[in-house]
Amino acid sequence: MKSIASAPGKIILFGEHFVVHGTKAILAAIDKRVTVTSTFTENKTIKVNSQLGTIEVPISSSHEEVKSEFRPFVYLAEFFSDQNHSGLEITIDSDIPIGVGLGSSSACCVSAAASIFGLFDGFRHKLGILDEVGAILDLAIDAERTIFPDTSGADCTVCTHGGVIEYPIKFSEMGNLQSDIRISFDLNLLIANSMIPHSTKRSVEKVSKFKENNEERFSQLCDLETKLIDEVNLALKNKDLTTLGLKMSENQKYLEEIQVSNDTLRDMISSLKEISLGVKITGAGDGGCIIALVSDENMDKVPALLGNDKECFSAKIRDLNGLVRERLEK
Ligand code: PMV
Repeated sequence: MKSIASAPGKIILFGEHFVVHGTKAILAAIDKRVTVTSTFTENKTIKVNSQLGTIEVPISSSHEEVKSEFRPFVYLAEFFSDQNHSGLEITIDSDIPIGVGLGSSSACCVSAAASIFGLFDGFRHKLGILDEVGAILDLAIDAERTIFPDTSGADCTVCTHGGVIEYPIKFSEMGNLQSDIRISFDLNLLIANSMIPHSTKRSVEKVSKFKENNEERFSQLCDLETKLIDEVNLALKNKDLTTLGLKMSENQKYLEEIQVSNDTLRDMISSLKEISLGVKITGAGDGGCIIALVSDENMDKVPALLGNDKECFSAKIRDLNGLVRERLEK
């Protein structure tokens, strides 16, 4: 039997870092995905194949014994070890760039959790799990915590639900997601990669230090971010791109103040200012990507402004699927 699941990468439109400290954030799925295929094998091993290499360890292994990039997958296999007496092979195919804040690790955790979950159908009945997607999301966040203990959970949540969401998510009494933000117009964003890999864990630790040393200002910034997100929600409702762009640039000021920017990112942001309604870092910063609200007719000016050493692409932010699952008997 084969269990296949895929999940999208993501961008954080507003609220990165502050979300770790309890404020709201707005995130969107992007049109780049990870697909994970899981199968049982005859060998008593957990085998993981990915772009980062292959590992094969005995099924009794603990996730703590393997290199960090493989830890979430071994954690997930470990989670089901009571149900599983054969081996497991997990294959990851991804078109999301790694380590630049586009949700590669969260999309891997979500699709791997769903793919492995799909192999153990009886498990759901045994534990009486009604909200299967919720259980997969919780499992994915726990898997991600093996490499990044302080994650807010926002990334895995948007990779699971897709579209554009406000985080933390809320559900109606009937169990319907209430936090999806319907975008009823074409919202195209430019994503530009600084090509500097970053460590989310290190950036988040740095911000926690900033908070420790500047408690009052950090609390003001959290309040400003909350207000900004309310204004963004209104701007999205009113299809008001000018305000949306202004709010992106305002959010960037807060990110500069908590010191997750650097000269390369600042240069990229200032190069795009003239042709954008707004530009900001997306994700942890200190490298990774920026996003810009650039009109279609200005898109062809971007490569010359950014230089050839940067990767950039346009992302349509609308109605993108989250987690997709499939189970094949053979
Ligand atoms: O890993 P990134 O670059 O997508 O950043 C994650 C976003 C943070 O807000 C910095 C951390 C978090 O867990 O929300």
